[in-house]
Amino acid sequence: MILFSGTSHPLLAKEVASILGISLGNVEVTRFIDSECRVRILDDVKNQDVFVIQSLSQIADQHLVELCLFATALKNLGAKTVTAVIPWMGYSKQDKAFRSGEAVSAQLVAKVIEVAGFDRVICCELHSKTVIPYFSIPVVELSTEELLASARGPLAESVVVSPDKGGVSRSESFASHIGKPIVYLEKKRNHDTGEVSVSSISGDVKGKAVIIFDDIINTGATAVETSAFLKQHGAASVIFLATHAVLAGDASAVLLKSTIDQIIVTNTIVISKEKLFSSLTIVSVASLLADAIKQNLG
Ligand code: R5P
Repeated sequence: MILFSGTSHPLLAKEVASILGISLGNVEVTRFIDSECRVRILDDVKNQDVFVIQSLSQIADQHLVELCLFATALKNLGAKTVTAVIPWMGYSKQDKAFRSGEAVSAQLVAKVIEVAGFDRVICCELHSKTVIPYFSIPVVELSTEELLASARGPLAESVVVSPDKGGVSRSESFASHIGKPIVYLEKKRNHDTGEVSVSSISGDVKGKAVIIFDDIINTGATAVETSAFLKQHGAASVIFLATHAVLAGDASAVLLKSTIDQIIVTNTIVISKEKLFSSLTIVSVASLLADAIKQNLG
């Protein structure tokens, strides 16, 4: 087995390689003067099971093209199987056409990954299950439920809150996993401005520690608005767990100033020093990925 790292998250790739007890494969990823990407595999990969770790994080377009160049180069060199390990599946938020005239980006990205030559995809917590059938190659989706739940530890008098309709099944699975009741919020997002508002709650959170398990923190609007709403309804504390810390724009500053008591995310995306803040805890998905790689040889 050979494991390569794309340029989006070399630290995570190194961590995975170290857990697997191997060195990363040798590759040159360079850019032509006009910025086009060039990937050159330096190892003999013939008849090998090969894995490429690449998060489709900012700049997603560039990281996607780079990932695809890996697949084609590896297949040209006779790799037996080539698996894309994509901790954060960029473009998965656009899993349908929200407004007329838009492309279903998640579907197109799935096709592009397949056409490039990948045989399988391993990823963490997809934005929605609707993304899986956009691929016709196998997709292994890893759950971060256990990882994030154990990072916080048990809380007395707690309740899980589902922040929106799209998160209902994820939240229900999480609530049943930690054996806590669930309360549902009604959240709306304006697709032109991105503004988020919460209009109703299905149960009582008064005096309780609220735990929210979401897939992504992007602008932070969902986390900030749901927390403010829950505190207005008497929640004693709000812990926000999310797999993917996109933290776009000034999200970190907005989250720091918010009413959220603790935010726990994973390292599916590189979080630069400037984006760190006091209430943020990061846990690593490296062992989840390493286990999945071991289980998906051949
Ligand atoms: C919504 O459907 C998702 O599950 C997340 O709640 C959302 O993408 C988070 O985005 P933001 O941080 O911009 O509110």
